Amino acid sequence: MANYADFNLGIYFAGLEGDNPPPYPVTFAGLEAAARERLEHRLFDYVAGGAGDEHTQRGNVSAFERWGIVPRMLSGAAERDLSIELFGHRMPTPLLMSPIGVIGIMTDDEHGDLATAAASASSGVPMVASTLMQDPMEDVAAALGDTPGFFQLYTPNDREVAESFVRRAEAAGFAGIVVTLDTWTLGYRPRDLQHATFPQLRGYCLANYFSDPVFRSRLAVSPEEDPVAATMHWAATFGSPTLTWDDLAWLRGLTDLPLLLKGICHPDDVRRARDGGVDGIYCSNHGGRQAATAPALEMLPGVVDAADGMPVVFDSGPRSGPDIVKALALGATAVGIGRPYGYGAAIGGQAGIEFVLSCLLAEADLTMGLGGYASVADLTRDALVRLG
Ligand SMILES: Cc1cc2nc3c(=O)[nH]c(=O)nc-3n(C[C@H](O)[C@H](O)[C@H](O)COP(=O)(O)O)c2cc1C
Repeated sequence: MANYADFNLGIYFAGLEGDNPPPYPVTFAGLEAAARERLEHRLFDYVAGGAGDEHTQRGNVSAFERWGIVPRMLSGAAERDLSIELFGHRMPTPLLMSPIGVIGIMTDDEHGDLATAAASASSGVPMVASTLMQDPMEDVAAALGDTPGFFQLYTPNDREVAESFVRRAEAAGFAGIVVTLDTWTLGYRPRDLQHATFPQLRGYCLANYFSDPVFRSRLAVSPEEDPVAATMHWAATFGSPTLTWDDLAWLRGLTDLPLLLKGICHPDDVRRARDGGVDGIYCSNHGGRQAATAPALEMLPGVVDAADGMPVVFDSGPRSGPDIVKALALGATAVGIGRPYGYGAAIGGQAGIEFVLSCLLAEADLTMGLGGYASVADLTRDALVRLG
């Protein structure tokens, strides 16, 4: 049986053919530097930046550094199994690609959602597809191949549009709905404020809205005739500031598909979600882009305990294989990758994303192997020690 770490051997063997380094950087720092070179500077800042002084997003990353993975010897981990079970699907890896609402314009051809879907199809790593897409969700779903995908819903304050999105996601074949709760309005993002720029307000990544019959029915003239008016209508209806726990029954009633709530970090919120009949928790602080100073990894063990067996997806901060292993050991069922694959898309489209996923999986696999952990089930909190 092949291990994901065999990817590394491929790089070394290719190097034997002459001066043949890998096509893209193998570290997060390298990816970020390469993406900075490639992306228009305001778009790069939109992706790389976050809320307030950006200590929150730096803290997401440094939170991982405070844990060590204790290696166990002679435990027979020469072959590893990274697969997980999620909502009845056997997934080959514990990774997901977190929703990135500008991924559509991060590739040269401005079809980044399709590139992500194609990388999902080839890698088996599910895509959580943002509401904010440059191509309509039906086209993106069609590019997912056999890999299950999830549709991430930003709940518009027009409930009939929300319902229409969910119906379309079901019809397109998505395997679950992720409702993001932490972005009912936009965080304070100094880089974007300084540039006075926000991609969607310029009409980007609104294909799901502009192709939606209910959204279109709200407009005096079509988005093709008056894109600015359509974009302003989007801005007026994007968030759902009045949504409360009382509305969970409505959200739950929208679909029989697995329903996850994204942005949950407090154990009491987990219990409320559970009581309201959701199927999974997506623990995240939105990569430090929304509520400044919000913790993420620190909250994961409490979230897992409160979830009481319900699947917990975690994102916000994983940059490397060991980070993925640590999140799993802290109890995450699956780990969402955000900015790293976004940078992969920027520097190499589908191939860049595939390369980033391969690096992360190779390093996670090697971390498990050298640590003596043969399967994801072997990763428990006992595998970790607090450092410092
Ligand atoms: C540029 C960018 C756009 C994002 N767009 C969305 C989105 O449309 N929907 C959503 O739920 N989360 C969105 N997120 C948050 C990610 O899904 C994820 O929570 C975050 O990237 C995790 O942090 P990390 O990338 O630093 O690890 C976005 C993140 C970034 C960086």
